[in-house]
Order: sequence, then structure tokens, then C-alpha cells
Amino acid sequence: MSNEFSKSYVQTFIAREEFRRQSNKVLHGHPSPGHWKPLDEPVEYLLDERSGYAMRSEFDVNLYVGTPFCIKTKPARCGFCLFPSEDYEGNSGVEDYIAYLQKEFEMYKPFYGSDHLASIYFGGGTPNLYHPEHYGQIMEFVDQLYGGVPADIEKTLEGIPQLFNEAKLRAISEAGFNRVSMGVQQLNDDLIKYSGRRQTRKQVFDAVDLCHKYNLANSMDLIYGWPEQTVENMLTDLKDAISAGVNHLTHYELNVAGRSDFATPKKRALLPTIETNIEMYQIAGDFLRSQGFEQVTVYDWSRKADTAEDIRKGSYDYEHSMHDFVEQEDGKVQRTKQVCGIGYAAVNFHPNGLDADDRSWIYMNQTSLKNYCQDLDDGKFPVGRGFMYNHQDVKLAWIFQSMQTMAINHVNYEQIFQESLISAYEEVWNELANRKWIVISDVDIQFIGNGQYYIPMLQSLIASIRLEEIRNAKKLTVKDIPVVVEATA
Ligand SMILES: C[S@@+](CC[C@H](N)C(=O)[O-])C[C@H]1O[C@@H](n2cnc3c(N)ncnc32)[C@H](O)[C@@H]1O
Ligand code: SF4
Repeated sequence: MSNEFSKSYVQTFIAREEFRRQSNKVLHGHPSPGHWKPLDEPVEYLLDERSGYAMRSEFDVNLYVGTPFCIKTKPARCGFCLFPSEDYEGNSGVEDYIAYLQKEFEMYKPFYGSDHLASIYFGGGTPNLYHPEHYGQIMEFVDQLYGGVPADIEKTLEGIPQLFNEAKLRAISEAGFNRVSMGVQQLNDDLIKYSGRRQTRKQVFDAVDLCHKYNLANSMDLIYGWPEQTVENMLTDLKDAISAGVNHLTHYELNVAGRSDFATPKKRALLPTIETNIEMYQIAGDFLRSQGFEQVTVYDWSRKADTAEDIRKGSYDYEHSMHDFVEQEDGKVQRTKQVCGIGYAAVNFHPNGLDADDRSWIYMNQTSLKNYCQDLDDGKFPVGRGFMYNHQDVKLAWIFQSMQTMAINHVNYEQIFQESLISAYEEVWNELANRKWIVISDVDIQFIGNGQYYIPMLQSLIASIRLEEIRNAKKLTVKDIPVVVEATA
């Protein structure tokens, strides 16, 4: 592996990518969904096999429940959004969807029922578009699948500020949620207009106040690198969000891609330059640190706190859980953690084992609501595309996730994968150290300075040779990989 990353390969890669817009900040993981293919075996087969692994080491599971709907905007999809979603056409479509969701929950009963729930995340789309009575109803599906929902785990519901009214937040809290993640993007009433959203700063602050009233931990998503945004606008937003008392901030760099309105030449012309984005990243970081926030990932910031309750509110178990999906104790691997996804466009990530011949995979539910419902009508799991990991992919997925936290623990890597991370990517580390983008200690490789900003590019670099191989490979099927764990059902 190390021989493949020659000095000139690394230097050429960085020289080519350094001044391009960084991507992958939001839709991250190795390999990205662009590399996934339809699975040609029934999902039941994979789930049976997973049950075999689960019997060897019980899984801690982070459950994601997907919602398809979003309020229509002009431009479409808030102008910038790269996530799958469907237009909200009224409550009857929502009620139909909930009935399908229930069906899918029931299908997983034989496979997921004995897992331990570690956190729950209702994402989308716009999950706070439901009526108050729906939150408890969907939480009940979770309860039935897992035979109860532990009281003390994190349960997050995501949504847009203008839909978090008092009746809903009361219902959300009564349904057992203890955390709200609000997609605000911009607090400036003029700049938010580029998204076509009818959202005002007043609505944002009212929603945050209601979260406090119902004792819901709250997190706010803000985006930098937005059309016509200046460093001053960005700092004003951060300052105001902090004054409102948010427990956690997600500060994403705008990801510009695909057919979004922001990717059109007219809007691109309004975007800050890459140099300004780098400046924004550094200035925002300095400011947030000065205000008592601690950086947890390339873009996540938690308010430092003294009491256990406030520490809990600033933390974010669901998002953080996969940054280290291998539990270790006294240097020994205990077990892997998993993501189980149910609902439209939900992702299942099953790193089942860490030996060279263990089988792991990731797959995503249908991203067209029509296909999602059709599959369930046909009695099938509504899975669209997925990816089977080879051993190298599991290692890359682990490195990729660690990099999100801006430090890779090379001692842990060596214990898990029985090889040296330092020598496997020697030329990469040499180049990054020369650029003062990393420092290597006895324990970890820490990303510093602009090395942090460039983490998405560096994740792509580390995966690049394997990705080329994947691009060239024929469609990967379950049959292509030898079965090593016997199915249990
Ligand atoms: C998929 S949205 C779902 C939540 C909710 N519908 C909303 O809009 O806030 C989750 C978050 O992803 C982020 N996001 C979506 N598209 C993005 C992009 N192109 N660049 C940066 N962040 C993006 C936004 O900050 C958003 O709050
Ligand atoms: S940003 Fe949120 S509300 Fe807008 S289209 Fe994406 S998921 Fe929907």
C-alpha cells in the first residue's frame, strides 16, 4: 500500500485539488454513495448474516429514521441542498408515508429486535413538518421494534426553524426527544432569501427560546461560504447564535455541486473565493474558541459546560458515534457500532467485523418516494443501492471517520488492523508534515492549521487509489465474496 503513494503522486494530487472548492463536508464517508450499486441479493440474506455477527458481539446501534418531505421553495431544494427530498403536498401524503414507515419497521423486527439502542436521530428532509400527534406515533414504532426506548439516550429531531412552533415542540418533548437540530444556514434576513425559504431571524430565536422552555438540547446548523456572505456577516451570525444560548453549532462550508441553484454560473459568481472560505474557517474557529466552544469535528462545535446536564446538551452522540466505530478496551477490540436506517433515503452501515475475511457493507433506502412505497407494497425491503466493503475499505472507512475529528489515533489503528498507519501512508504524512498540516505524536496524527480545512481533500487523497480500483471494478455482488459467517435464520 505504502509504495502506491509515492511522493510525486501525493504532491500532484494536492497541487491539482488545493484550489478547487472542497466538497464532502456534509455527505461524508468512504466510499461516497456515487460508488454504490444496486445489490443483487435480497437484503434478508445480508441481515441474516449480520445476525450471525451480532451473536458474536452484540451491537450498539444508532438508529436513523428518514423523512422525505420538504416545503417547496423557489429555487428548488433551498437552492443549495444536495440531500434527497420530495415536495410536501399536504398532510394526507404524510399520513400515507407514516403507514409505509410502520411497515418497514415491522419488517426489521426479526433482525434488529435484540440490538442495543445507543441513540436515535430523526432526519430528512424536514421531520418537523409532521403534525404534533405524529411524533409519538413514530417513536412508538421504535419502541415496538427494540422492545423499549432507553430513557437516557440521545434522541434528536431535525427541522427548519419556522416550523418549530410551541405545540410541536411540546409534542416532540412528550414523545421522548431530548435534542433538536435546527437547519438555520443564515441568520441574516437578506442572505437567507437566496434559499427561497420564508425564514426570519425572529423565527429562529423564538424556536431556540422554546427549546429552552421544553428543556430540549439544541443545535444550530449554519453555513459559511454562502452567496454574498462576508466575514462580518458570518461573525454576526455566530455571535447571535451563541447569545441565543445554543448548546451546539454545526458550521458547514457550503458544498456547491450537482444541479442546485447555487451551482449555476450566476450564483457561483456571488460565492466567496476559496481563499475567503479558508479565512472564514480560521476566523470562525478563533472566535468560537474565544467564546467557550470546543471543536469536535471539522465543522462541529460544542459549548463547554460544567454540569453533567449541560455537557449532555452540548454533545451529539448520534453524529459522533461513527467517528470511532470500533470499541476498544485495554487495547483489545470489543465490538463494532452500527447505524441502522429506516425510512426514505435512510442509510444502514454495518461494519460487522474487523478480520480480513469479515464482511461489512453499507446500503441506502430508495431515494424516490414512489420506489420506496412500491418496494414495501411488493413486500421487499426498500433498499436502493449499497456497497460491500473489502478489508481495505473498512480500514479506509475508519481512517475517514477519524479524520472528521481532526486526529487519527495511530495506536488504536495498529491495535485494530494489525499494521502501522504511519508506514502505510508514509509519503502522505511526510508531505503533510512539510506543509505544517499535521503533527505526529506517540498517540495520534493531529491535523493543524490549514490541514484541518483541507481534511475533505485529504480524505479523498487517502482513498484515491482504492476509489480508482472501485471505479474500474465490475458490479460487485454478494456472490463475488466468499461467505464466512453462516446465516442464522
Ligand atoms: C439535509 S438538511 C436537513 C434538515 C432540514 N431540512 C434543514 O434544512 O435544516 C441538514 C443540514 O445539511 C446542511 N446542508 C445541506 N446541503 C448543504 C450544502 N450544499 N452545503 C453545506 N451544508 C449543507 C444544512 O446545514 C442543513 O441544515
Ligand atoms: S435544506 Fe432542508 S429543507 Fe431545504 S431542501 Fe434540504 S432537507 Fe429540505
